[in-house]
This record gives sequence, structure tokens and C-alpha cells, in this order.
Amino acid sequence: METKRSTLTITDNRTGKQYELPIENETIRANDLRQMKVNPDDFGIMTYDPAYMATASCKSTITFIDGDKGILRYRGYPIEQLAEKCSYLEVAYLLLFGELPNKAQLEEWTAHITTHTFVHENLKKLMDGFHYDAHPMGMFVSTVAALSTFYPGAKKISDPTERAMTFYRLIGKAPTLAAFAYRHSVGMPYVHPDNELSYAGNFLSMMYKVAEPKYKPNPVLEHALDVLYILHADHEQNCSTSAMRGVGSSQVDPYSAAAAASAALYGPLHGGANEAVLRMLDEIGTKEKIPAFIKEVKEGKGRLMGFGHRVYKNYDPRASIIKRLADQVFEVTGRNPKLDIALELERIALQDDYFVKRKLYPNVDFYSGLIYQAMKFPVDMFPVLFAIGRMSGWLAQWQELLLDPEQKIARPRQVYLGKGARDVPMLSQR
Ligand code: ACO
Repeated sequence: METKRSTLTITDNRTGKQYELPIENETIRANDLRQMKVNPDDFGIMTYDPAYMATASCKSTITFIDGDKGILRYRGYPIEQLAEKCSYLEVAYLLLFGELPNKAQLEEWTAHITTHTFVHENLKKLMDGFHYDAHPMGMFVSTVAALSTFYPGAKKISDPTERAMTFYRLIGKAPTLAAFAYRHSVGMPYVHPDNELSYAGNFLSMMYKVAEPKYKPNPVLEHALDVLYILHADHEQNCSTSAMRGVGSSQVDPYSAAAAASAALYGPLHGGANEAVLRMLDEIGTKEKIPAFIKEVKEGKGRLMGFGHRVYKNYDPRASIIKRLADQVFEVTGRNPKLDIALELERIALQDDYFVKRKLYPNVDFYSGLIYQAMKFPVDMFPVLFAIGRMSGWLAQWQELLLDPEQKIARPRQVYLGKGARDVPMLSQR
């Protein structure tokens, strides 16, 4: 019997030649296709894959997703267990360093993050320069980018000490910038970080503290926010992470790369989706209007926001955790009236042939916005909250890129379909 080989044999019918390409990790190397040429000076065959539907851009050991089974793991640990047993800072450490911290490591890590929560006073001036109704995500993107001007040492990206400083600073300062953006938009004075509080508790303090000498976060809400950060911490090669890696591959400093990742997250098809979900629920207004709304979606007049995912073709495991978390939060805050519309939308969509056939299930954003709103976060802040949690994942992916000897500056190819060479006519002849 012929032995099975882990290879792919391709016949180029233009030349009749056969090629045997190695298959490794169920992947062939696109570059191996380039040996297939008609003429020796041809470039060789390329793959055409708009939106990277079937192209792996890296090897990674950080996050595993099985979209068909609805599985998400960070460094091998199921998301459900991490959400139940760990704090966000433990998970951030796990993503960055590969293992969960022991007690001493966690204390040291927490101390590092906590001592980097303050921002330079000049950043406040920068924040003050924004218009009163500036979107907080726009302010967040800009101020993350501005951090690069305060820490020029971060340009030394091959120095592990500088990289570690960036981890402390970006994870430590992201909530501060986010809260300052909010306070600016509501015309309230900025609240300095309170380093006696937890990571999530301090953020709530910077958001909501008014005149009380010490802000005491509600433990249920503090915990819920921490879990939401965990759920958003990484999601392998999504749009913003690809932006972090793509921009980082130019060897720019990590603050600039993180600003690019944040900008990618701002879009309504990515981190802006939870904002879009709430606006959609507002627009629908009552349960009675759901069938008409679903009909419009099916006619292509808009999308059911918070549904569908490039990778998950099953229930997003994060959505299930968030749905349970919502019950705990609503016990404290009172039930968000939009929940009933969301539950009914989900029920109808999951029975509808259009959604079933396309395997469209609720994603992480479908219910997270309802919790955020119950916690009194304005809708504009939703993508910013996402960015705080995702910061650790971006940094872990960025470091993995830098340490991967196979990686180079990201530079996709194109299929050119434009005009051939021609002469430029004078203005009078056009
Ligand atoms: N509502 C209605 N139809 C949808 C939806 C939706 N939310 N999502 C996909 N479809 C349909 C498409 O129209 C398409 O139908 P067709 O085959 O008849 O043309 C089919 O399902 C496949 O959709 P694609 O757009 O090709 O899927 P893709 O993988 O490119 O998009 C995405 C994934 C962007 C998440 C998409 O499902 C979407 O736009 N969802 C709504 C926005 C959203 O919730 N984004 C958050 C994603 S999670 C995150 O970023 C954290």
C-alpha cells in the first residue's frame, strides 16, 4: 500500500509540470507556489485572498479558537475557567508570559501595573484640546498615540526591559486615558488613579468619583467589569490585532502600533459593534417591531448587529458567559429594559432559516452593551472599554511578532487590473 505523505501535489496545466508541496499544520506555504512559472522570469503563482479568508499570517501560541465548536482558550486554558478563577491582571500576565503567575509573580506584576497608572500632566492638556462632544474612542486613539512622545525609549523594541516597561505603561494607563476621555466629554474634573483599588475598581473610581473622599466600587459591578476585560483580552488574528501586528512589523514603537490597533477596533464591524447593538435595540424600540426588523435584515437592508462572526459558526462562548454575568449585574442595577428585546431578537433569529443557514449566532457584543449600559457607561464608551481589555492581547501578539524570526515587515501583494502603460497628456489635451 502506498504510504501517505503530508504533501500536496499540484499540476500546472499551463506547463504540464507537477509540483509537490509540503503540508505543515494543514497549511502550505504560499511562497512555495512561486516556483510554478510559465517563463523563468515570471513572478510565479500567488494566492488571492481578500480579507484573509483562508490565509494564516503567523504561527501563534497565544489563543486557540475552534469556531465550529464554540471553543476559546488562552494559552490552553478555557475562557470559562479563566473567567471564573482569575482576575484580569492574571490573564494579562498569562497572555504576555505564557503561564499564569504564582502569588509572588502576581504581586510584583500588580505593583508594576499599579505604579504606572498615572499619566503625564501634559496629557491632560492634550485631552482638554478636544471638542466638548469628541467621541471618547477618538480621544483614546489619539492619546495612546501621544504616549509614544512621552516614552521615546520604547522605540528600542528589541530591548526586553523597554518592552516590559511598555506592558506596565499601556496596561496601567489605558483605563486612565479612557476615564479621562469620559470625564472630558461630560465636563467633569479628571480623577487621579486610586492605587489602593483593584484594576477594575480604580477605573470605576476614575469614571464616577465625585466629591466623596474615597470611591467604593460595588463589588458585583467591579467583578463584572473585570470578567468583561478577561473576555475581551485576546481573540487571535482579528482586525485590530492584525493592525497591531501589521503596523508593529514596521518596527514602529508599540504606542503607535497600539493606537493603530485601537483605531481598527473603533470600526462598527469590530469593537464598535456593541455600540451599534444598543443603537439598533433603541431603533427597534418594542418587541412587536422585531419581525419587521428581521424582515429588513433578510432583505439586505442592514445587519443584525452583534450577530455573526468570521470564525465562530456556533454560539460565541464569550456571549454565554456575558449572558450569565448580565443576571448578576441586573440584580444590582435593575434590569435593562432592552434585555427583553435582545432576548426576543435572539430567540427569533436562532429559529429563522436565514440565520440558521448562515450559522449566525450572537457574538460577544450582543449582550456586553446591555451590561455596560446598566453600569451607566455611555454608549460612546463601549469600544473604549473593549480597548482596555484588549490591550494585553495586542501587546502579547506584538511581542510574539517581534520574537518570531520568520516575521518581516507586512507587505501583501496585489493583483493589478489597472491600465497598461500610457503617456500623460498635457492639461489642455484632457
Ligand atoms: N446580520 C445579517 N446578515 C449577516 C450578518 C448579520 N449580522 N452577518 C453576516 N450576515 C450574512 C451576510 O449578509 C452573508 O450573507 P450572504 O452569504 O447571503 O451574502 C453571510 O451572512 C456571510 O457574511 P459575511 O459578511 O461574508 O461574513 P464575514 O465573516 O465577512 O463577517 C462579521 C463577519 C463582520 C462579524 C459579520 O457577521 C457582521 O457584520 N456582523 C455584525 C457586526 C458585528 O456584530 N460585529 C462584531 C463582531 S465580533 C467582534 O469584532 C468583537
